[in-house]
Amino acid sequence: MMNERNLIYGCMGLGGSWNKNSLTNEDQKKADNIIETALYAGITHFDHADIYNFGKAEQAFGNYLKRNQSLREKLFIQSKTGIIINGGSLGSSIYNLSQNYISNQVDQILKRLSTDYLDALLLHRPDPLTAMEDIAATIHLLKKSGKVKTFGVSNMSTAQIQLLQSYLEEPLISNQIELNLSQSMLLDLEVWVNRVESPKEVGLGGLLAYSQEHNLSLQAYSPLVKGRYSNEGVKDEKDKITLKLIEELAEKYKSSISGILLAWLWRIPANIQPVIGTTNLKRIQESAAALNVNLSREDWYALWINAKGKKLP
Ligand SMILES: NC(=O)c1ccc[n+]([C@@H]2O[C@H](COP(=O)([O-])OP(=O)(O)OC[C@H]3O[C@@H](n4cnc5c(N)ncnc54)[C@H](OP(=O)(O)O)[C@@H]3O)[C@@H](O)[C@H]2O)c1
Repeated sequence: MMNERNLIYGCMGLGGSWNKNSLTNEDQKKADNIIETALYAGITHFDHADIYNFGKAEQAFGNYLKRNQSLREKLFIQSKTGIIINGGSLGSSIYNLSQNYISNQVDQILKRLSTDYLDALLLHRPDPLTAMEDIAATIHLLKKSGKVKTFGVSNMSTAQIQLLQSYLEEPLISNQIELNLSQSMLLDLEVWVNRVESPKEVGLGGLLAYSQEHNLSLQAYSPLVKGRYSNEGVKDEKDKITLKLIEELAEKYKSSISGILLAWLWRIPANIQPVIGTTNLKRIQESAAALNVNLSREDWYALWINAKGKKLP
């Protein structure tokens, strides 16, 4: 089955940087330009999180929306909650998916985004101290309040999603995970069935099949591999070879580096929706322009094999 391709703009880069300073006019101007470039390129799905730049990403987006209210119903706006940055010992983040915390955060998110509702709320990371049954009760309340239309998760294993889903009447719509040409454990698990080389990743086991069976979209974060496939970003000889291949394919398919990295994800028939985070206007345009790029089977595999630097089994 062919899924309709979707590109999500990830707003982590809006609103300045990760500090508690106020949003500046310059940050706002930059955000306005980025949002407009994304909209003009046809992107209508935006990803937020309450923590991004300590709320300033949502604030900058909300300021734009205030000035362009007629846009609201044409957009799909999602945010995430559940992480408390520097909330724990050693400056570590901690997680909180309790009802009080999520409900308060949703109110603040809506205020910052200048909207009455979210199209989706994603639980940013699992919290071992909140029972899935209690999370389901919170989801039920938020749905009833009209503040959130649909729900998804992020960084959750197949088993966690199954458990949460078992308490819900409505289907979860997405799991947002890191997935790109360089971080493709989800696919490794499909072909190296009897040799899992990195046990910490087995939470992803079965996720590709589960997501197709239950129509759960896999939102792939860091799809441009955070700039790793660029002259400044390459880390080793293997990356250099892969970058050269990407550049050749960009020429062959009349695309770009960003375009080839995204086309590689879209070629997998499992409703994968990349969440790009580039703040470079040209890269945003190139990303959207790649929606029509169809990599051949041979080129798709060549990218995967070279990025790994080893043969498939
Ligand atoms: N759920 C989660 O836990 C989670 C975690 C991380 C991210 N996310 C979401 O996913 C979105 C995307 O994540 P991401 O920012 O890591 O993804 P990304 O799109 O792979 O990376 C964007 C970063 O890479 C740089 N970059 C990309 N292509 C480049 C190139 N060819 N040359 C030089 N630099 C290049 C960008 O710089 P420029 O801005 O200069 O282009 C930017 O700093 C975020 O905005 C957020 O919404 C979710």
